[in-house]
Amino acid sequence: MGKFYVTTPIYYVNSHPHLGHLYTTLVADAVARYQRQRGRDTYFLTGTDEHGQNIERAAAAAGLPVKQHVDNYVAEFQEMFARFHLDPAHGGYDQWIRTTDEAHRRGAAELWRRIREAGYIYKGEYQGWYCINCNSFYTEDETQPGPDGALLCKVHDRPLERVAEESYFFKLSAFQERLLAHYEAHPEFIRPEARRNEVISFVRAGLTDPSVSRVSVKWGIPVPDDPHHTIYVWFEALSNYITALGYGGDDAGRFTAYWPADLQLVGKDILRFHTVYWPAFLMAAGVELPRSVYAHGMWLSGGRRMSKTLGNVIDLEVLFKHFTRDAVRYFCLREMVFGQDGDFTYEALIDRSNGDLAAGLGNLSSRTLTMVRNYCDGEIPAAADGAGAALRAQAGEVREAVARARAEFESEFADYNFSRALEVAWAAITRVDKFISDAKPWHLAKDPEERASLALVLLTATEALRHLTALLAPVVPEAAQVIWEQLGAPGDVAAVAPETLAWGGTGGRIGEVKPIFPRLDKQKMMEEIKADEAVSQRARAGANSPAPETKEPATPAEPAPAVAFIGIEEFAKVELRAGEVLTAERVPKADKLLRLTIDLGEPAPRQILAGIAQYYEPEGLVGRKVIVVANLAPRKLRGLESQGMILAASIGDEGRPVLAGFVEEVPNGARLK
Ligand code: MSP
Repeated sequence: MGKFYVTTPIYYVNSHPHLGHLYTTLVADAVARYQRQRGRDTYFLTGTDEHGQNIERAAAAAGLPVKQHVDNYVAEFQEMFARFHLDPAHGGYDQWIRTTDEAHRRGAAELWRRIREAGYIYKGEYQGWYCINCNSFYTEDETQPGPDGALLCKVHDRPLERVAEESYFFKLSAFQERLLAHYEAHPEFIRPEARRNEVISFVRAGLTDPSVSRVSVKWGIPVPDDPHHTIYVWFEALSNYITALGYGGDDAGRFTAYWPADLQLVGKDILRFHTVYWPAFLMAAGVELPRSVYAHGMWLSGGRRMSKTLGNVIDLEVLFKHFTRDAVRYFCLREMVFGQDGDFTYEALIDRSNGDLAAGLGNLSSRTLTMVRNYCDGEIPAAADGAGAALRAQAGEVREAVARARAEFESEFADYNFSRALEVAWAAITRVDKFISDAKPWHLAKDPEERASLALVLLTATEALRHLTALLAPVVPEAAQVIWEQLGAPGDVAAVAPETLAWGGTGGRIGEVKPIFPRLDKQKMMEEIKADEAVSQRARAGANSPAPETKEPATPAEPAPAVAFIGIEEFAKVELRAGEVLTAERVPKADKLLRLTIDLGEPAPRQILAGIAQYYEPEGLVGRKVIVVANLAPRKLRGLESQGMILAASIGDEGRPVLAGFVEEVPNGARLK
């Protein structure tokens, strides 16, 4: 039956997960379920990218040790993905790789060693302009002039840092011809076609050797045998796809079983890293290349690319609160033509939920099953001998239409044309609906002479529904299982390969008929969503502030994300107040957390949880004056609500916190401006 290995990018842990992140993992999940259902030994990898200067700085800004900062975000990503059933417990990913995992650190170092031994890594001096948000170096002509002669990053509009340091380089230039030959010989290596052409032109224009180490960044993986240097974050991040399988470790069983990857899904924003650098690293190390890298488009919101920096992200909390998992999955796969950008609007999601799901699949299912219940005592007719020739011909057409839809769906889905595959399936749903409406079983049911015709109509409709349900299981897994059970079909639809289903004659008793997709009241829902979004934006703006997202430079056609500096009015939104610690104690089973109560001059003291337990004894804090962010949205840690944050400097590599305070006396509650 073969194997199938599918990967997603690993996400930076410096901003909260949003729809963009969920999307790639959700698509990979649908592909993995599709492959598993067809009996392939499937491995599905997703995870988090946790090293680099940007993350180091984000942790410092949040006043947390870096490891704690990344642990918090990883927990948030995993919890959110689990809510959408993308986790192992719900048949989703097989592994969540973290680049802070020991096995990854070892594997990445091993990849480095092998490339260096092969002669493709050498030492030199790097001079360049570095953007910490892109994690990338630029030459002067790749920058834009800013105020006071500063050079700015074209993507982020932020001042670049001049970096001159000893550095290791990767001999990318040595791979130009081999890469071009590979693209030529394996057209499926970069998809879709437009992206492939883009990469070919880029490589043809000539490749320069990138710097692959930094001495000024400490939060990362040390260069083997030269720990003064840290491996460049992209170099090691890319290696996750093989280190996750045990590459460079003691047990390479999974590496042997699953590598090369069959499908590496990425957003188009990180295409070059995956189709130029990554294959060149692998060639240099003598490792086989992935079969296919597919770059999907970006979700736009309000016409601009959804990103934390622009503040236009779709909040997963809000999405989760108002929509079923299946509706979100269906929408993401149906609405976005895979490979192209797509606009996300809640209105469109509601329309698709009501139109395609409730009135389409849901209605076909409930009308068919209700008729079986009402006209046949809940028994699906097994045979329909004696039905008229005309009706038999129509039923035959429906059966053929469903078979054709299955074949087309299979090939479109296998080729990652999800939207087209779903269009085909929905055309078949419409066809079956029409057959039912034309045959009018509600009339046939009244006439004892028409028993055979009635049986044929219901048999055809239930069979069509059974086949389509199996087909749609990777896209709407929960609804598919419910319909499957209502049809009285045995077992788990996720394990039934559609091509193994025969047509007809199975009969059987249906289960209880219940509505599957709720009908949504658009106007009411939009009002609720808008209200929730406003609250969530306020909460996010106040939450332990993430650094801006780190990005590879966007293609020039894309609008540049905005805002580097904040104005005084922005700063004024942060309410900083002097407070006094009244009590302090350790939080059981959380070795880093202290629970403090703090007098802010308010009627009641605030409870604040601070990640400083490894550095401060609780007793020593009582009576101490601290600075509190007083208007931070409350959030729960270990089941306890934290009603603010205390400020601390973050010192050294491990981010040791040193609490901020006052030299002179200040009253509790005094505002800092
Ligand atoms: N850490 C790197 C990737 C390293 S892979 C070895 C990174 N991380 S990221 O957090 O910025 O996530 C990038 C990926 O998230 C994109 O490639 C894409 O898969 C997904 N998306 C982020 N924003 C998105 C949209 N607005 N729309 C669709 N997908 C988006 O880059």
